[in-house]
Amino acid sequence: MKEYSIQEISRALHNGELVAIPTETVYGLAANALDPIAVKKIFEIKGRPLIDPIIIHIYDLLQAETLAQTNEHFYKLAKRFWPGPLTIILPKKPIVPDIVSAGAPTVGLRMPNHPILRKILKEIHLPLAAPSANPFGYVSPTEAEHVRKTLGGRLKYIVDGGSCSIGIESTVLDLTNLNKPKILRPGPISAEDIADVIDIMPGTSFTRTHEKRALPSPGLLESHYSPHTPLHLIRENAEPSVDLNSKIAVIRLKRPSLASSKKYQEYWLSEDGDLAEVAKNLFRVLQLLDEKKLSSIYIEAPANEGIGIAIYDRLLRACSK
Ligand code: TXA
Ligand code: MG
Repeated sequence: MKEYSIQEISRALHNGELVAIPTETVYGLAANALDPIAVKKIFEIKGRPLIDPIIIHIYDLLQAETLAQTNEHFYKLAKRFWPGPLTIILPKKPIVPDIVSAGAPTVGLRMPNHPILRKILKEIHLPLAAPSANPFGYVSPTEAEHVRKTLGGRLKYIVDGGSCSIGIESTVLDLTNLNKPKILRPGPISAEDIADVIDIMPGTSFTRTHEKRALPSPGLLESHYSPHTPLHLIRENAEPSVDLNSKIAVIRLKRPSLASSKKYQEYWLSEDGDLAEVAKNLFRVLQLLDEKKLSSIYIEAPANEGIGIAIYDRLLRACSK
């Protein structure tokens, strides 16, 4: 992969080109958020429906204030969690192009914590619209190589910032109604973490839905994060039955204790079940196994608590094809 200087990347973004960027959660596909023609290219390359709004990555709070109407919860949460894996939805200001917000009166903002992306944001003085850098509906990328394999043919600039340290997407919190904060997508920052800061327990509205229209967050479409290979959820330590003609793999949350004499390949996402490690490895292992032409992949469901809630949410959607 070619390496570009920060200045080259900055010039490309100013010229309306797309750049794949590393973040601490997943890789993003970025464009100048204030350039509707550049943003349109994101939808085209990803195959993303125009009804799905894109979040904006910012460098500092001043930039946030130019894009959205901020409120007291916003400042408290920004102080506690930014830069970091929290996206905050606020009423947008007119400067935000309609294509970014998919015509809605709101905009999602996030101050990312990846050092290279911080440098880029500082250099360019532009807010960056960026969804995850995967074809729409497919597993999110956590390494530059994932982006190259899926979108590389149509994308000149990919910035390699190593493996994403968190590995699943930010928590999306709707703060447009000050009295009714609502989590639209569970993520690394939990409802309890947020309640600790603003003294209100946010509601949640990320149960799966078959409704494809009028969703609070269109990214909640049921089928998402899906490998091409059929994926099935199993309980911890369950043994799927294998028929002779099928080639399957089983993904465990932690390293299995017994030496394996099993009829399938076994993988694990962490040594001892630590869910932060599971999150970090989840999409990488799914992409890896998706290349092996298996008939099925089975994966253990994590406990539905803490970051396990976000992992479980991704897995439900990834399985629902
Ligand atoms: O961690 C992340 O959030 C990554 C990295 C690249 O920053 N980005 C990401 O973007 O996951 P994306 O587009 O794949 O997911 C953003 C989610 C989508 O479900 C989208 O529908 C929702 O946020 N969203 C964006 N703007 C919104 C808005 N104004 N109102 C409601 N939902 C919104
Ligand atoms: Mg995405």
